[in-house]
Amino acid sequence: MIIVLLGPPGAGKGTQARQIQELYGLPQISTGDLFRAAMGSDSPLGRSVKGYIESGRLVPDEVTSAVVAERIAQPDCRKGFMLDGFPRTLPQAQALDALLAERSLPLDAVLYFDVSDAVAIERLSGRRTCSRCNANYHERHMPPKQAGRCDRCGSALTQRPDDQPETIRKRLQVYAQQTRALVEEYDRRGLLHRIASDEAPEKVTASVSAALAKVQAGRSLA
Ligand code: AP5
Repeated sequence: MIIVLLGPPGAGKGTQARQIQELYGLPQISTGDLFRAAMGSDSPLGRSVKGYIESGRLVPDEVTSAVVAERIAQPDCRKGFMLDGFPRTLPQAQALDALLAERSLPLDAVLYFDVSDAVAIERLSGRRTCSRCNANYHERHMPPKQAGRCDRCGSALTQRPDDQPETIRKRLQVYAQQTRALVEEYDRRGLLHRIASDEAPEKVTASVSAALAKVQAGRSLA
């Protein structure tokens, strides 16, 4: 199965991607995580994307599409994968079509995590991330057992630099201007599954599972 997770910053894409990975064994390919890992190792890619990420702007399409092309060529993607946060522009959607066409693979579904700006802002403002294993928490909705410490590995929790109020506003603006059009595009292509993401995490996971069950049923009929 090849699926795309689409939605504004803070919609819960990463949180649900980890559930899907566990339930379906699909590797999660998060362009944001790939860029942050490159920044963490101070690689040439990391240095070239830092300014974009920290100011809430999109990394140029060619750079992003090349990173995805390299990642999906890895052996763990042979049986399918999920793209978390890619594509985010029409040229990226076209690049994805071309990458899949080269491999004669279909795009099975696009899960659209629909959430209001107010909820997205509240979620991003309270998000805390483990500095070591990348586990994700929320101060109010998903607090760690011990304040400021990761439940899984005990490392310190930090706030992403792009989760500051001004950068959050910029990211939501960029989403409205450059990414929202993809919702209509994938709906037109009959691939879109709308997930009400304003709900509690378990309820969102139930909606995701229902949508993926439909996709799997469609695949076995095909
Ligand atoms: P990226 O890392 O992809 O960030 P994003 O899309 O802005 O999404 P987020 O990770 O902020 O939110 P999410 O939807 O995953 O929510 P999460 O599950 O964490 O991208 C960062 C930057 O990289 C971009 O700004 C851009 O510069 C660059 N970039 C990445 N991809 C690119 C591309 N394709 N092209 C160009 N540039 C690109 O949840 C958020 C919080 O809410 C957490 O605290 C979580 O615990 C909590 N939460 C989640 N679900 C619920 C729920 N149901 N109820 C209550 N709380 C919840």
